[in-house]
Amino acid sequence: MTYVKLPVLEETGYVVLDRYDQGADPAEWLDIEYVDWKSSGDTRFAPLASAYGELECNGFWHHDPPKTDKDGVWVPGNVAKAPRLQARAQEPGANIGRCRVIELKPNSYADAIHNLHQDDNNRLNPEGTGWIVRGFFNLTDDVDSVMVLREDRDNPATETRIPLPAGAQLIVDTQRLWHAVWHPGAQVRYCLITSWESGPELAAYIDARHPVTRIDSPPVPAAELAEAERREGQRRASGAMTEQMSEA
Ligand SMILES: [Fe+2]
Repeated sequence: MTYVKLPVLEETGYVVLDRYDQGADPAEWLDIEYVDWKSSGDTRFAPLASAYGELECNGFWHHDPPKTDKDGVWVPGNVAKAPRLQARAQEPGANIGRCRVIELKPNSYADAIHNLHQDDNNRLNPEGTGWIVRGFFNLTDDVDSVMVLREDRDNPATETRIPLPAGAQLIVDTQRLWHAVWHPGAQVRYCLITSWESGPELAAYIDARHPVTRIDSPPVPAAELAEAERREGQRRASGAMTEQMSEA
């Protein structure tokens, strides 16, 4: 027995959808309540759906009783202030687990490579059901920022960088792909992240939005690449343990 997975994610592990008209929506992410939650980088999170509807961001499996990353419970105070964000998470009609807005402070390419991690989306997920993947809807217009994805953390040749202007919509198998965001902008970045269960509903949602499964990565300046290589060399030399399973 295995999991139900989306064929569209089989080859590269990511898919980029039509860009959303973010400018037509109010900036609801500025109205909701954030909690400090250490993820990859300097971050805060505002949960829209959590394990049991509390204003917290812990993995669902840490709760009592533990649960897999499905059947998230809406956080009343935040969804009351962010109905458009909730509606966008609900639009595919797939089961929703964690749903939250991430706030990320500016960082460097080397920081992003250091922050690469895989998510622990499918702990306790029963085989035979849908594999959990994650949607990233960029809210702020971060035209110089990219989602860095690697099939193999230590192999830059496996890297893809997906631009993150306002309205960028990507769906990523974040348990398979190492990922982090390089955000060189001057302002904080906001992005809606939703855990969805793979299945016919999510497949139909993707199919209707001109899915692209391979994109050309914008270049990284040589100085940024060199700094990342230097820091990765240090990391490997020190044999330092790195976070293997971040929760965002
Ligand atoms: Fe993550």
